[in-house]
Amino acid sequence: MNASERGKVLLTGGSGFIASHVLDALLDDGFEVIVSARSDEKGQRIIGSVQPSQQKKTSYVVVKDIARDGIFDAVFQSDPPIKYVVHTASPYYLGAQDPVKEFLDPAIKGTTGLLKSIKEHAPGVKRVVITSSSAAILNPDSHAKVYDETCWAPTTWEDGMDPKQAYKASKVLSERAAWAFIEEERPNFDLATINNTYTFGPIQRNLPSLDALNTSNHRIRDMVQGKMKDALAPTAPVFTFVDVRDVALAHVRALTVPRAGGNRFYVVGGHFSNKRIADIIRSRYPQLSASLPPAELDDDLPGDVYGFDNRKTREVLGLEYRGLEESVVDTVDSILKLGQGL
Ligand SMILES: NC(=O)c1ccc[n+]([C@@H]2O[C@H](COP(=O)([O-])OP(=O)(O)OC[C@H]3O[C@@H](n4cnc5c(N)ncnc54)[C@H](OP(=O)(O)O)[C@@H]3O)[C@@H](O)[C@H]2O)c1
Repeated sequence: MNASERGKVLLTGGSGFIASHVLDALLDDGFEVIVSARSDEKGQRIIGSVQPSQQKKTSYVVVKDIARDGIFDAVFQSDPPIKYVVHTASPYYLGAQDPVKEFLDPAIKGTTGLLKSIKEHAPGVKRVVITSSSAAILNPDSHAKVYDETCWAPTTWEDGMDPKQAYKASKVLSERAAWAFIEEERPNFDLATINNTYTFGPIQRNLPSLDALNTSNHRIRDMVQGKMKDALAPTAPVFTFVDVRDVALAHVRALTVPRAGGNRFYVVGGHFSNKRIADIIRSRYPQLSASLPPAELDDDLPGDVYGFDNRKTREVLGLEYRGLEESVVDTVDSILKLGQGL
């Protein structure tokens, strides 16, 4: 299908790990994509990372801070008009100092501000897909036996004032705000959310250095760099993973499958533990063995670990999930490539 048939998509947070794969998957599927980035330099880096044959279908707009009122209004004055929106931009890093300014405002106002701009300025938008998270589903204080899309984390705004809970609260409250917007404002577009779990996979092309690596790949980078040489960091609280390429495909299918609208999708590939990751790296990269945690350490994956039900993503979105070994090996390969073998 060519780009004019598929139409134009706005992809927010184009500089991010997950967005880099969503961009590839959208272009492969024939969409034309406008990414938002916080600076010209980042926008140009994104365009430079795309295959030359796809560059004419890719452009960027600078959106400095998604928390700012009306910041997306100008973006929707595009010709041909934008037909779909994929919203991945949201802060995800460790060590918040100011939960409201750093996490809750960009996540919540960033989401509601975007939806408001679409409603007011982009009547041609048919569907919006938002990258929520399994953080909006899981309740680590009292795990469900099996999680699915009906589960909601009970995290509140007050919980989010604890910097350790700020990210989780930002995801719960921004997703709730998005569904409330649809319910109350009845816009022309419908909504689907991707509630992906802890995501591994090949790092972005053109990342300036391994220090700039996205948060969820840190543990794999840290193992490869020898930072867990003496002891494994605890795996908790999340014991499920998914590969970023499956997450990317989930976003594209959530746009293109008509019956995906109005749904949450819990995108999860399997269980993992840091011990299992270390064992995979040890068996596949003998040259790294001196940097890895000792082989005899215990596995902290609980015997009664919570289960997950990903049937809806397989049935509606047609996902088939990559296993942990493939995901870890492809992540390590990409880390070694950027770190020039380390
Ligand atoms: N990785 C995971 O395990 C995981 C799991 C579930 C859900 N998610 C969700 O997936 C999305 C992408 O995460 P990721 O892992 O790809 O993280 P990432 O690489 O850190 O990407 C985050 C993106 O959001 C942008 N952003 C953050 N705050 C912003 C602001 N105030 N204004 C404008 N842009 C802002 C970042 O821009 P800069 O590059 O300029 O900072 C970046 O493009 C997030 O919504 C995250 O919650 C991630």
